[in-house]
Amino acid sequence: MTSKELVASYTYELIKDRFHKDFILGIGTGSTANCFIEIIKKENPEIKAFVSSSQASSAILESAGYEISELNDVGGPDLYVDGADEVNSKFELIKGGGGAHSREKIVAAASKEFICIVDDSKIVKKLGSFPLAIEVIPMARSYVARQIVAMGGKPTYRIGFVTDNGNQIIDVVNLNFDVPYETEIRLNRIPGVVDNGIFASRKADKVISANSKEARAL
Ligand code: 5RP
Repeated sequence: MTSKELVASYTYELIKDRFHKDFILGIGTGSTANCFIEIIKKENPEIKAFVSSSQASSAILESAGYEISELNDVGGPDLYVDGADEVNSKFELIKGGGGAHSREKIVAAASKEFICIVDDSKIVKKLGSFPLAIEVIPMARSYVARQIVAMGGKPTYRIGFVTDNGNQIIDVVNLNFDVPYETEIRLNRIPGVVDNGIFASRKADKVISANSKEARAL
């Protein structure tokens, strides 16, 4: 079993007794979230609805016969389970390696609880080594990039990638992560930015991590 498979199955065992017929489960995006989806498919818990943070995750669930509900229609999920690219000791995150962070942040914000599932390689002392994804409205891309350079960041356009919202992604390194919350808010104030991949204003409530041998709650 890989560490991603292990963290997904360990997490499922931790939460499965909480499922009931009115439970709404939010499903994240990425290879770790996909491992969790595989367990959902196998265990088929009896819950009320699934909400998904991406078209990719929705497609996997729908191809297995599950119906995906609109967040607008069901209200806040009881629980959101998703991966991350980096996690610090405060459970602040960098997400968006898959470019789905804007929807992920919405589902996380709307959820009563957010459990982040990662392999140990994602645990960092300080956020910021992983390039930070910033979703931008296409006409604003160059303007946003110039504002990021003025902040000291080095932006790269993720060529050919279109988000589920029809927007573009700029990946940025060299930003200041001394106070992730401040960088998150400052970036989101730039006109044209939809959202960035810093999850500090809505960090994870729990982080479960695994290596190839064991999983544990941090
Ligand atoms: C997608 C994400 C993912 O959660 C993050 O990139 C981790 O992905 P993986 O589980 O494949 O390592 O934020 O936008």
